Amino acid sequence: MTQARVLVSRAIFPETIARLQAHFDVEANQSDEDWSREQLIAKLQGRQGVFTTGSERIDETVLAACPELKICANMAVGYNNFDLDAMTAHGVLGTNAPDVLTETTADFGFALLMATARRIAESEHFLRAGQWKKWRFDMFSGSDVHGATLGIIGMGRIGQGIAKRGAHGFGMNVIYHNRSRLDAALEADCKARYVGKEELLRTADHVVLVVPYSPASHHTIGAAELALMKPSATLVNIARGGIVDDAALALALREGRIAAAGLDVFEGEPKVHPDLLTVPNVVLTPHIASATVPTRRAMADLAVDNLIGFLVDGKPLTPLNPAVLAAR
Ligand code: GLV
Repeated sequence: MTQARVLVSRAIFPETIARLQAHFDVEANQSDEDWSREQLIAKLQGRQGVFTTGSERIDETVLAACPELKICANMAVGYNNFDLDAMTAHGVLGTNAPDVLTETTADFGFALLMATARRIAESEHFLRAGQWKKWRFDMFSGSDVHGATLGIIGMGRIGQGIAKRGAHGFGMNVIYHNRSRLDAALEADCKARYVGKEELLRTADHVVLVVPYSPASHHTIGAAELALMKPSATLVNIARGGIVDDAALALALREGRIAAAGLDVFEGEPKVHPDLLTVPNVVLTPHIASATVPTRRAMADLAVDNLIGFLVDGKPLTPLNPAVLAAR
């Protein structure tokens, strides 16, 4: 039997490549070159599978130009880089990497919330810049996390993980907004109360965004939503760039209309809106919420399991458009 041919579009663990090589003819981008879309299409010619990292857009143009492609395995839980309808129409399976990153990402969401509320990055920059000449009673006073009201928008697995950390670890009053309400047992587990988006924005001391990106969630937080928040409130985005209107946020931060923000994701990343780079009350990290070695390994392993599961055994683990399987 001839081996399927698989492309790995970005640098990844050598062990990941070795696992793939045991089953497939592999071309890997271990030098992590930035391929244009045309280069990606050229590299995909004659390949049945591709290991993607979430930054490669797979849409009608790519699919029409790569008729042999059968599966795109994302090493990410988010999959807004996939046009799933077009993939289904072309009979191409998409898979993502859920669950394995839930707790790690919830840890990071909480870390970013703490850093934002307690002004950790801002005060560290001050110290490193040699500006700490003497202690003052009001130096870098932030806002409390324990006992505060935590508002979570997007109550999937990661949102629930953040809710549990807040409610059980920090005695927070947790409210949430989601497309659909959680069942009573899950709400009790998270000690979370369902509220409308407007109530959440008006009452939360700390707002955390964990909603998946889609055209419907574009600018979930824009100028109008920021205007509803308390001037003392903080906002954390670990969801996706585009969920927040970054220009409107930078202005609200500069004008003190909210206290602070923590952002791991950006509109048009890795570019960051220049105004965000000049406001002090924002913590900026380069899309690292799932970045621990064990979790990144588990995510890569799940993408490999999906490629093997589908191309060798016909049984992918985490299919996004199972209609493709049913049609086979
Ligand atoms: C990271 O952003 C992911 O979707 O896994």
